[in-house]
Amino acid sequence: MYEKIQETASWLKERMTTKPETAIILGTGLGQLATEITDSYEFSYSDIPNFPVSTVEGHSGKLIFGKLGGKDIMAMQGRFHYYEGYSMKDVTFPIRVMYELGIKTLFVSNASGGMNPEFKIGDLMIITDHINFFPEHPLRGKNFPTGPRFPDMHETYDHALIKEADQIAEENGIRVMHGVYVGVQGPTFETPAEYKMYHRLGGDAVGMSTVPEVIVAHHCGIRTFGISIITDLGLEDNPVEVSHEEVQVAANNAQPLMTEIMREMIRRA
Ligand code: HPA
Repeated sequence: MYEKIQETASWLKERMTTKPETAIILGTGLGQLATEITDSYEFSYSDIPNFPVSTVEGHSGKLIFGKLGGKDIMAMQGRFHYYEGYSMKDVTFPIRVMYELGIKTLFVSNASGGMNPEFKIGDLMIITDHINFFPEHPLRGKNFPTGPRFPDMHETYDHALIKEADQIAEENGIRVMHGVYVGVQGPTFETPAEYKMYHRLGGDAVGMSTVPEVIVAHHCGIRTFGISIITDLGLEDNPVEVSHEEVQVAANNAQPLMTEIMREMIRRA
């Protein structure tokens, strides 16, 4: 595994003309930020040695390098979900590569179902913490020398970055919520009983990504910041049906505000 990571990182380094310290994972329906990257050059996942290839609808699958907010950045357009059948090693492979490339800060976005009764569809939730409900741990197996065998998880989502995001939101009059993201494997959305359970266990929103990547980033000492777009609601005793299309529509509608916060976060990073 380590050799594969090295091989992929070397392949990219040989071709990279910039040296980004900031990476972004562009989640469901959040592609707008990609269109703002200037001086860009990119690699299809299918051309990068050892890189898994993304299949899910709405994800095209490439690494984009360039400038955003005056900073050199790299962006993942298309991520690997556990529900697609990838192993946890595959899902988190790009993060290991990012570490080898010298990435220091990671911005992640995703879509999720809100369980906190104060949330509305289209809200942005700054992820303050998570609960890992994936059936396999991304750090299972031989420990990587990037971090300890038993990593502390008290500040998985960087407090300084959260504070900065709050400031940016306030300056721009953007409503942001804070909350705990519950990571589940999917691909089913939750039953009413499951939404209720995850809420009672301390979750504010539930989704099918992010947690594996963030755990590995944290293990690599990469500072992480995440925002979730609340695309549907699973409120206790108020079951509402949800579809993938609906999730994409809500994500697209919230996109401009999310982009504004992320762009400014990156500029200040
Ligand atoms: N549950 C899980 N994943 C999701 C949801 C949800 O309600 N909405 C968007 N992704």
